[in-house]
Amino acid sequence: MRLSASELSQFGEELGRSLQAPKVIGLSGELGTGKTTLIQAICRGLGAKARATSPTYALVHHYDAGPTPVYHVDCYRLRHPDEARDLGFDDMIREGAIILIEWPERAGAWAPPLDRHFQLSYDDDPSRRVVTALAHV
Ligand SMILES: Nc1ncnc2c1ncn2[C@@H]1O[C@H](COP(=O)(O)OP(=O)(O)OP(=O)(O)O)[C@@H](O)[C@H]1O
Ligand SMILES: [Mg+2]
Repeated sequence: MRLSASELSQFGEELGRSLQAPKVIGLSGELGTGKTTLIQAICRGLGAKARATSPTYALVHHYDAGPTPVYHVDCYRLRHPDEARDLGFDDMIREGAIILIEWPERAGAWAPPLDRHFQLSYDDDPSRRVVTALAHV
């Protein structure tokens, strides 16, 4: 899919409306390809309300979609996969959360198995992004 920014937002909102917890979604792609834009749209679709971000885990943003916890985890700044050990993935899984992970590959084996994985990349048209659904893993 080659999506404009508003189409990418619409895609994310629809995806968010359709998600049933528990679910783990990975978003990969170069800087500025729209991962955060997509995650924010998914959260809108989920009706997720932001909770205070823990200063200890600035990489983890916590939302609530009604009774369902939603976590946005950005692994970009991890210098080594082992730094993902303390991000709390096990607890999130135990809670039956919806977990949205930017750069899941940087968490290596510490990342939980992904139910869906999207790759974002630049298009020749600078106002569009290519969104590819990778095989469910
Ligand atoms: N079709 C498009 N879809 C999404 N974003 C677009 C599109 N066209 C242009 N943009 C712009 O690209 C930028 C995407 O930024 P965003 O923070 O979502 O990317 P990111 O992949 O999360 O980057 P980072 O890796 O730095 O966190 C925004 O400034 C947005 O306005
Ligand atoms: Mg981002």
